[in-house]
Amino acid sequence: MRSELVDTDIDRAVRCLRAGGVVAIPTETVYGLAADVTSPGAVERIFDIKGRPHGHPLILHVSSAADLDRWSHEPSDSARQLAQLAWPGPLTIIVPSSRAVPPAVTGGRASVGLRSPAHPLTVALLERFGGGLVAPSANRFGAVSPTSAEHVWTDIGDRLDPATDMILDGGPCSIGVESTIVDTTTTPPQLLRSGAITADDVEALIGTSVAGASGPARASGMLESHYAPNCQVRLVDSADDAVALRAGTPGSEILDLTEDVAVYARRLYRELRAADERGIRTLIAVLPPADGLGHAVRDRLTKAAAPRPST
Ligand code: TXA
Ligand code: MG
Repeated sequence: MRSELVDTDIDRAVRCLRAGGVVAIPTETVYGLAADVTSPGAVERIFDIKGRPHGHPLILHVSSAADLDRWSHEPSDSARQLAQLAWPGPLTIIVPSSRAVPPAVTGGRASVGLRSPAHPLTVALLERFGGGLVAPSANRFGAVSPTSAEHVWTDIGDRLDPATDMILDGGPCSIGVESTIVDTTTTPPQLLRSGAITADDVEALIGTSVAGASGPARASGMLESHYAPNCQVRLVDSADDAVALRAGTPGSEILDLTEDVAVYARRLYRELRAADERGIRTLIAVLPPADGLGHAVRDRLTKAAAPRPST
């Protein structure tokens, strides 16, 4: 990958954002495609580049917990505690939005998702930029999230313009699956998406219980088919089951990183992409135990294996 788009220069990234361009940013979870929240044209381009339906809310990335009151209106005590204790980190907190948040960002909702990412380049970028950055994962809608600058370039590089836009290369993402999402506008708070910060972690941080998601597709990541590669994904519970299924499935390969669930999470999307590059028809994935980060890996694998509406 050699491209004028890819760079490690934070000052260039700040200039792009201030001029209304878009910048792919590294985070500890996955790469995001960022725009200045106050630039309607740049926010619109995010939807265009991703092919994301309007009305689908974007996460607003901020520097630190000190930004909570700028973007939210009377956040609950739980929201404050989570921001204080878990940021910067892989946690998105849904709070009532303040008037500073444009409706295009929230799809007209009264709430907004806020997150302070932990990747050092993006921490520095947010500090120098000084404002808020909306950033969905930097992939085309419904596809697998990018966990390296090269993934971003492969997915959307042809839709970016080196004169105005940039891919900030911060190396491979350390966690590899998207942030945990907790909705603090409900009582009790609800876990909308699992991630590296588990429901148990959240309960320990706020000292009260957390519910599972209720209501129809509260987060887009909860739609059935999402995070999907081109190959078919079949799920099994053990290595033995994988071997048996493979024997009867031509053109299949096995994905089994259950020995270390952190490695499974970190490499999951890269492995799904690699399977497509090798032209594999069926990827047989062994599910990790439903424990800790295993919940998030199981969730993403289950979505990758879900029936696709259009194929
Ligand atoms: O790790 C991450 O969260 C990455 C990095 C780039 O920060 N971002 C990410 O963004 O995964 P995206 O847009 O791909 O997923 C954001 C999810 C969507 O499912 C969206 O529906 C949900 O967050 N979301 C955002 N704001 C919301 C709100 N106000 N209420 C409910 N769900 C919301
Ligand atoms: Mg996404």
